[in-house]
Amino acid sequence: MFRISFKICVIFLTALVAFDSARADEAKDALIVQTILKLESFDYQNSSSKVKGSVSRYLQKNVGTEEYYTLVKKFLIEEQLSNLKSLCSQNGSNSRAADLLFTIGGKNVLADTLKIIDEGRDNFINSIGTVNDPEAVSILQTLLSGDNYKEMRVVVGAMSKSPAGQERLLDLCVKNKIPSQLKQDVSILLSGSVDPNIRARAAKIVPLPATLGGGALPPVNELVSLRGDSKKGQLVYLRACFTCHKVGEKGIDFGPALSEIGNKLAREAMYVSIISPNQAISFGYEGFTVKTKAGATLIGYVVSDGDNELAMKVPGGAVISTDKSQIESSVPLEVSLMPSGLVSTMTKDELVNLVEYLMTLKKKSK
Ligand code: HEC
Repeated sequence: MFRISFKICVIFLTALVAFDSARADEAKDALIVQTILKLESFDYQNSSSKVKGSVSRYLQKNVGTEEYYTLVKKFLIEEQLSNLKSLCSQNGSNSRAADLLFTIGGKNVLADTLKIIDEGRDNFINSIGTVNDPEAVSILQTLLSGDNYKEMRVVVGAMSKSPAGQERLLDLCVKNKIPSQLKQDVSILLSGSVDPNIRARAAKIVPLPATLGGGALPPVNELVSLRGDSKKGQLVYLRACFTCHKVGEKGIDFGPALSEIGNKLAREAMYVSIISPNQAISFGYEGFTVKTKAGATLIGYVVSDGDNELAMKVPGGAVISTDKSQIESSVPLEVSLMPSGLVSTMTKDELVNLVEYLMTLKKKSK
């Protein structure tokens, strides 16, 4: 590759910085950036304020681009912490931004951000989950207490993204420090690890639920390669799922209708929904336990929340309205309204057949 000598570059840089014309500013910034990127060793921290100004303007215009990451990584530019934080909280998880945020800001920046971040919080947690470092993992681990199970599920999912996080999850399970409501999540997440060593240890420490007739379930990444008999699968649906889900006109309207579930979920997500319903609870179906002053207990999800009345749909599909003045307490459920033990009521083959059937449930083409 063509290498420019350090001396020539410095002369070039000085000339560029001296060159002053408002119109050419943007082009000049870009040239300065390209030049310092080519230098093998450039002391950015001690460079002139003009160079820093150019770099900072350039970065601001190019947040999130390939060159942005290259520059910030090469010079560990502290002024970029706030941009990196926003990159970490946008859609999904951003491992490059998270790595830089941690490298430049250290664990304290992660901890401080988690204390205040609200918008894009789940994305931020997922981004931090990709940082393969025990200190970053420890910061996430601090979120694994209290009673916000929805967030704790996100945290466990995030921790499972890095080898260091997977190790920690196993360790927490061994020491019995994982809330029991989250064990099943950990079990299914680690059973899908790319590291066979983690998978083997997880199978001992947090085994997947056993299927009917014994025998632990194979991990999801193995199940997805199997094909079953959808006709037989329909019978399993009629036995185990019909009481809560409609397919077409058949079934009870409690959980989401499954008539087009084959369009919505990929095979893998289908298995996860059945084996570990707590992992991703459908929007609008979050459960509540409501106690009335008269001593009744209702478990279900809210279908309408008016000024005076709260209407809840309960298993079986009935909607029950309660006068709000009669409500003693209303507490979010820690788990899905869909039971997590369903796989233990079917054999592995029945499960594979069931998923085959569910995959055929698609929008009718007209
Ligand atoms: C006791 C009631 C109940 C039973 C039994 C039940 N489910 Fe569910 N299911 C729900 C509820 C409530 C939800 C929504 C909450 C959630 O996502 O966890 C749900 C969600 C789902 C979802 C996700 C739907 C979506 O749109 O993302 C799938 C898939 C599913 N169930 C499949 C099944 C299958 C297959 C069976 C039978 C093996 C079954 N369910 C048995 C109540 C039930």
